Amino acid sequence: MKGTSASLLTIFGATGDLAQRMLLPSLYSLQNEGLLPGALRILGTARSELDVEGFRAMVADAIGRHVPAGERNEATLQALLARVDYQTVSLDDPASLERLGDRIAAMRHGDVVYHLSTAPRWYAPICDALGAHDLGGAGTRVLLEKPLGHDLASAIAINDGVARVFDEDRVFRVDHYLGKEGVQNLLALRFGNALFEPLWNARHIEQVQITVAETFGVEGRGDYYDHSGAMRDMLQNHMLQLLCLVAIEPPSQFDPSAVRNEKIKVLRSLRAIGRDEVGSETVAGQYSAGAIGGIAVPGYLDELGRASTTETFVALRAHIDNWRWKGVPFYLRTGKRMPRRCTEIYLQFRSVPHSIFDHGKAPLQPNALVIRLQPDERIELRLMSKTPGLDRAGLQLSQVALNLDMQEEFASHRRRLAYERLYLDAIEGNGTLFVRRDETEAAWQWVDAIHDGWRHAGVAPKPYPAGTWGPGSAVTLTERHGHGWLE
Ligand code: BG6
Repeated sequence: MKGTSASLLTIFGATGDLAQRMLLPSLYSLQNEGLLPGALRILGTARSELDVEGFRAMVADAIGRHVPAGERNEATLQALLARVDYQTVSLDDPASLERLGDRIAAMRHGDVVYHLSTAPRWYAPICDALGAHDLGGAGTRVLLEKPLGHDLASAIAINDGVARVFDEDRVFRVDHYLGKEGVQNLLALRFGNALFEPLWNARHIEQVQITVAETFGVEGRGDYYDHSGAMRDMLQNHMLQLLCLVAIEPPSQFDPSAVRNEKIKVLRSLRAIGRDEVGSETVAGQYSAGAIGGIAVPGYLDELGRASTTETFVALRAHIDNWRWKGVPFYLRTGKRMPRRCTEIYLQFRSVPHSIFDHGKAPLQPNALVIRLQPDERIELRLMSKTPGLDRAGLQLSQVALNLDMQEEFASHRRRLAYERLYLDAIEGNGTLFVRRDETEAAWQWVDAIHDGWRHAGVAPKPYPAGTWGPGSAVTLTERHGHGWLE
């Protein structure tokens, strides 16, 4: 759906951490570049008893703390603040929702975007309240933050609750990874070049790896994280979305239906990992005390302050049962307190069928494509090349890399926050980079089977020292099949 530009953005949870770190700085940057529609108003709502001036001071403070000094200027700040309003709301208090409804009705002069950045248990009640005040009809859309449920059943309950008021094409489920430049570049790389497509299949690709590694622990987020774990927090959403973009068939257009129709086919082709497979195909880990970059860090249980069997690391071997990918392992791993922060996709091509250079020397290494999304964006193509020399005992080859550094290549372009793109798309009603209901539910179904397998087998996460790449069994997971993680 492509809507008309919104006249009002209402942020529920506007005093929260996400708003301060990401949402308000993104709006600031859009304002700075003149990209917000002229008439757009922004209404923050939260439980905090603030007046408009109090909220504006909070917005200014968040921007002071989270927008780099070189990108800040007073005129932009004042222009943004002039759009901003605030309404205190207690979501469990009908009178307070009534006041909010009146406020929205008075402020809107066209389309409205509601951004729900609260605990997900409030999503259905908020939508019901908007519906009851006749504020959820045509021309309105709703943005939902993760976690969208805890499992398939709870995701369905949330989605059903939202669907009572908002048709699916007005529901924008945020996966902020889809707003990242590097993630969109993956589509550009695949579908803007003729070079890769003929090789992008099981005949030519030996294995695929997706790694999302973080050096952070869970610090102040323990209460949320401990009910989630790496599988629900990262794999069910961000990592499966990355997997989809690596694996999809070419969509006919870059539009919401075409792209999402292809993603859902991938999710539905994922081979189930259930009770009989979790032992061999998955690894769960939990960090213990260790050191990262020479600095000692506590273990997960110390940070949490209680016992827990929540996994902070997960690695698994997935398969996509379709013609393109039959037999190609997709190794996924994500963890907290890893040695370095990186989000990387690694495609290893099959080896040459016969080496003409084999004189008992080191074998030829297979070609590989490494797409690094974070912390820096780069694309690296690993090739074999002749090592300079006279080679009296036969040609010497070594692996070299064609290396494209996106920061260097596009030095004059500012690196953007994912929410800049996502907000602009939501304001304009373009859902291509948002997750459709069937995708999120298919992802939960697949993840639920793994959780069921873990429960059934009594799998407890294996400890790994902070600053390492997870438990040793994560290494065995690939080595058993003749592969090794990209380090
Ligand atoms: C969030 C998770 O969705 O993504 C966090 O809840 C994680 O646990 C974060 O740290 C990672 O996002 P990014 O953009 O820093 O890679």
